Amino acid sequence: MSRLVLALLLAVSSPLAFTQAQKAPAPAPATTYEPSVGQEGKDVVWVPTPQVVVDKMLDMAKVTSEDFVMDLGSGDGRTVITAAKRGARALGVEFNPNMVELSKRNAAKEGVSERAQFVKADLFETDFSKATVITMFLLPDINLKLRPKILNLKPGTRIVSNTFTMGDWKADETADLGAGGNGNCNESWCTALLWIVPAKVGGTHKLPQGELTLKQEYQMLSGTLRTESKTIAIANGRVRGEEISFRAGGRDYRGRVTNGKVELTK
Ligand SMILES: C[S@@+](CC[C@H](N)C(=O)[O-])C[C@H]1O[C@@H](n2cnc3c(N)ncnc32)[C@H](O)[C@@H]1O
Repeated sequence: MSRLVLALLLAVSSPLAFTQAQKAPAPAPATTYEPSVGQEGKDVVWVPTPQVVVDKMLDMAKVTSEDFVMDLGSGDGRTVITAAKRGARALGVEFNPNMVELSKRNAAKEGVSERAQFVKADLFETDFSKATVITMFLLPDINLKLRPKILNLKPGTRIVSNTFTMGDWKADETADLGAGGNGNCNESWCTALLWIVPAKVGGTHKLPQGELTLKQEYQMLSGTLRTESKTIAIANGRVRGEEISFRAGGRDYRGRVTNGKVELTK
């Protein structure tokens, strides 16, 4: 055995060399962590939402200090931090622990650590029922997986998504900030979409105005209003959170849905 090989064997057999050989390479200190666009994520890679789109999403959701905003897959924390700067309480749910720490540092830099918080968690195992606004930039199939849970949230909860849709549940509002729209967003992923969780209102309601029978598909309503003299098909039926509106027999009706009960005010 050559003297060099022997020297290496002796070196790795010393207690210190052995423990070093067993350890994974030391991770970079958290404060130097720099994410790269397109890096792996559990179910979706990280791509940040352009700031103009973040602003638009929060505008469309009409975020105020009364809101509790949750960003599902919160990346570097920009949406949560922007919501907190508007006075809302906001929570980012992010699977990558380095991104969680980075977000916390970003929130501290912006002076909003108290209102902008972050947890390392899987969005599929997270209870978001307390949120009044949910923001996301995930993928169409993930949105679809989340959809049943979203539709069971409190009526009026606002959902805003960067670019990706929710299958046949059409958005209540869409804003294209890219070249096809008003051009403020010069990157990819420039469309903001808003949905408002509709109250469940399908079925028959006996009202002073008549018997209202509604068929509900998400926020869209069809059906009839039966009065003493006739049965009229309703048109333009919609439910926006707890507000209901439709047209029947040349009249516009408006009202509220509370715990499934309809009350027409107009
Ligand atoms: C496209 S990025 C969006 C980041 C941020 N919401 C934004 O708009 O800038 C998606 C993020 O979701 C995270 N992610 C992927 N799968 C996840 C999961 N199952 N639970 C929590 N976060 C997840 C990724 O690590 C990534 O940061």
